[in-house]
Amino acid sequence: MPQHIGILTSGGDCPGLNAAIRGLGKAARDHYGMRVTGFLNGFRGLANDQTVELDGAMLSGILTDGGTILGTSRDKPHRMPIGDRVLDMTDAVLATYHRHHLDALVCLGGGGTQKNAQRLVEAGLNVVTLPKTIDNDIALTDRSFGFDTALQIATEAIDRLHSTATSHERIIVVEVMGHRAGWLALEAGIAGGADVILLPEIPYDAEKIAAAIRTRTQSGKRFSIVVVAEGAMSVEEAAEVASLLKARDKADSKKDRTAISGKLSKFHDEHVGHTIRLTRKLEKLTSQETRLTILGHLQRGGTPSAADRVFATWLGTECAGVLHARQYGVMLALQGNRIVRVPIAEVAGRKRLVPPDHPLIAAGRHVGTSFGI
Ligand code: F6P
Repeated sequence: MPQHIGILTSGGDCPGLNAAIRGLGKAARDHYGMRVTGFLNGFRGLANDQTVELDGAMLSGILTDGGTILGTSRDKPHRMPIGDRVLDMTDAVLATYHRHHLDALVCLGGGGTQKNAQRLVEAGLNVVTLPKTIDNDIALTDRSFGFDTALQIATEAIDRLHSTATSHERIIVVEVMGHRAGWLALEAGIAGGADVILLPEIPYDAEKIAAAIRTRTQSGKRFSIVVVAEGAMSVEEAAEVASLLKARDKADSKKDRTAISGKLSKFHDEHVGHTIRLTRKLEKLTSQETRLTILGHLQRGGTPSAADRVFATWLGTECAGVLHARQYGVMLALQGNRIVRVPIAEVAGRKRLVPPDHPLIAAGRHVGTSFGI
């Protein structure tokens, strides 16, 4: 019997998913003689047994396409909204896996997907994962595919905003994606020559940003570009979150923990749109006309960059070799210039954040960029 492999894509989409599906599918089928079945819309398709046969025709002509031919969702096997209820669908997921006599399941996804994959490993399934996300924040891998394309899109946007900011002598605030990790803001900011870069990892002081902008003005530079990660916070906001997290860790009862988690969710819900408040504040503090551009899902759309096509194809084809060797419970990761296998258990629940002493932060400071502190 040929090996039978299932594939799904889960979490937010990103450019390069189809390149990875194609690399994996073609290598698995044509090189190793495996059968490959796709599950639709992430773990939901696995719970509901919605499949598509990944034959030669399905795998052809998709290398350059954005999105994912399999569809995706943020559904978790153990907490899936069904109608107006949220149900544990783990048994349904296991039943589908066994009904298809799968030898292994490959999950392409970011941090949440790695956690869900590990739950399935613990439930006894053979799982391999690939790292995708424009946030580039998956533990133990130097890169996730999707990041390079998003970086290009954000950099081009910053380049374009430069000319309009200069013409009008304005401050332009550019919000890029990244709730917890600031890699995209950091690298796009450096590539685009931003004057200020604000990351979730380095709480900012609006007065210091305004001071940096005033210094530019005094030296004759009458425009400024401020690149902000969507999860960046002021010093006060970061202190509020830190104290809620501390209180939750110390809480004795489940009731208290739930109440504090509710406060944290409320904080994060209200934090969406914080760049609007920051833009107004900077305008007030500097008395300079200020505009905001939110790049949003543009950063995740469209055709993957050459680097993402190459990386995703490499990961996909290597993955077929790992499956052929029947090695399971691993994520394929880029470390240095090699693809290595790391236990999913060591990736799940961890995030790769920008360390405050990262060399790129020093590089930014050396070219005069302010990090808002
Ligand atoms: O996790 C990737 C990501 O693109 C984040 O940078 C962003 O905050 C989030 O997804 C947006 O998610 P959604 O597509 O669900 O709005």
